[in-house]
Amino acid sequence: MQDLRGKVAVVTGGASGIGYALARCFASEGARVVIGDVEAAALDRAVSELGASGADVEGVVTDVTDPAQMQALADAAVTRFDGVHVFCNNAGVGGGGLSWEMPLSTWEWVIGVNLWGVIHGVRAFVPLLMQQTEAHIVNTASVAGLVAAPFMGPYNASKHAVVAISETLHHELALSAPQVRVSVLCPGWVNTNIAQSARNRPAHLQEGAAPDPEAAALLRGFIEQGMPPDEVAAKVLEAIREERFWILTHDEPGDFWVDGVNQRLRSLGARANPQLGLPL
Ligand SMILES: NC(=O)c1ccc[n+]([C@@H]2O[C@H](COP(=O)([O-])OP(=O)(O)OC[C@H]3O[C@@H](n4cnc5c(N)ncnc54)[C@H](O)[C@@H]3O)[C@@H](O)[C@H]2O)c1
Repeated sequence: MQDLRGKVAVVTGGASGIGYALARCFASEGARVVIGDVEAAALDRAVSELGASGADVEGVVTDVTDPAQMQALADAAVTRFDGVHVFCNNAGVGGGGLSWEMPLSTWEWVIGVNLWGVIHGVRAFVPLLMQQTEAHIVNTASVAGLVAAPFMGPYNASKHAVVAISETLHHELALSAPQVRVSVLCPGWVNTNIAQSARNRPAHLQEGAAPDPEAAALLRGFIEQGMPPDEVAAKVLEAIREERFWILTHDEPGDFWVDGVNQRLRSLGARANPQLGLPL
């Protein structure tokens, strides 16, 4: 898809970070935008800011873990704008620890948002995208969908699954609706609010959720030095235009994430045991 003018783009988790940058980027290209997010106050802020800049924008409070709310987001987009051309399955949260020590509530929360959210998004939006003569779905995974670093079990599991779902979709749509393109977004560190993900952790999944202050500070440090979200959004736009599946934002030689991905592929090829290619 070359031209987003007049197209309709829906972004989940679009009230902050990468999602908000995507919404801004699409709006600046002339798209009409629908943002779904669970955080009502941030959503209101994002919608008023975009509206003030002249965008045609709608906000829908949406918890992506709930298939009915995801369907309501899709219905709202159709009611307001008559269809959807670009869908970004982007909402996500981070939480970690040792795999055997983390409370079950952490596994359930992270997998609920990052994996089930994407599944609900695919089910609600792909049929709408298929109605268009050109359309694109972007699933936000992570480099954590390509390498498995320690202390991130649920996050790694969810993001590897998002990569797998995206590749599956790519093949399925190529066979049945080739006008719908697929990309999977695999960023390294991006300077967003992800280190504060617990702000949206639901009350029923709080058990044992006390954060490890040292791990939280380490994560914040990485995130604060991350890529600006607007740069990520520009790379997504470029991939939509080029109909490119893989979006590896940190693709410079020597970047430790890319080195980690390449090292993993090499060790798989050599049937060698995994090595920790990341400076952790
Ligand atoms: N920041 C990074 O370094 C990084 C790296 C790789 C991948 N990602 C991925 O990028 C995506 C966006 O995260 P971000 O870094 O912009 O973080 P962020 O916290 O700034 O934004 C995430 C958004 O998702 C929303 N959200 C959380 N739970 C939700 C739910 N249940 N339903 C709907 N919305 C919900 C939040 O309110 C927030 O607006 C995530 O999928 C994340 O895993 C981030």
